[in-house]
Amino acid sequence: ITLGNAPAHFGVTSAHPAPLDASQHPESYVVYREVCAACHSLDRIAWRNLVGVSHTADEAKAMAEEVEYTDGPNDEGEMFQRPGKLSDYMPAPYPNEEAARAGNAGALPPDLSLIVKARHGAADYIFSLLTGYVDPPAGVEIREGMNYNPYFPGGAISMPRVIFDGIVEYDDDTPATTAQMAKDVTTFLNWAAEPEHDERKKTGIKAVILFSALTAISLYVKRFKWTVLK
Ligand code: HEM
Repeated sequence: ITLGNAPAHFGVTSAHPAPLDASQHPESYVVYREVCAACHSLDRIAWRNLVGVSHTADEAKAMAEEVEYTDGPNDEGEMFQRPGKLSDYMPAPYPNEEAARAGNAGALPPDLSLIVKARHGAADYIFSLLTGYVDPPAGVEIREGMNYNPYFPGGAISMPRVIFDGIVEYDDDTPATTAQMAKDVTTFLNWAAEPEHDERKKTGIKAVILFSALTAISLYVKRFKWTVLK
């Protein structure tokens, strides 16, 4: 199964349709929304980005409308609450960094929009981190409130293990194993870091074809026109 712009070597066989052609499946978004969004923002993704990718326009609109956004000022100079629109960005779990740290024992859950680009190992790292929680080896002391994860530089991470078998339910009855969910959310985050990826590649192919044709034509014309001077 090909995974669009996600690495295909996670060793998890997906029951979901292959998301080539930017057709990400909604399930990968579900894991972000139901698990990660409790602590992590996804500032660079707007509801409209999901349209035609993992959701239809109506579905994305309905999801946006479930969230209240502060807008304004209106004509009276007041801020007001309104339901979300397609152009709104994903709501953040905390109003600011202080609140985020207060909710996580001093640690800051990073925004996940570009996390795949920001870490060595990219998507492989995210998948390994999510599935890599184990007991610390003998002789390794982990401070109260920290968790041992050999994939996290230093080994002690403040984010606990968050993915367990069965914590989300997939609409298409795919078994929600830890590996399946970790793969799905990683695929989603890999897409989120480069939502324009597939479009860009397609435009790139068109450009290569077009410029090859133009080069061929101009070489032919050049040789044709200059034959008299040979
Ligand atoms: C850090 C992913 C859910 C709290 C991180 C990092 C990633 C990540 C990639 C950065 C690790 C690094 O710096 O290399 C995810 C994903 C989640 C998820 C994909 C959902 C599947 C959660 C939840 C919480 C949380 C639910 C809160 C209970 C944190 C905190 C950090 C963090 C506090 C900072 C850790 C540190 O610097 O020690 N997460 N996370 N995460 N996450 Fe999550």
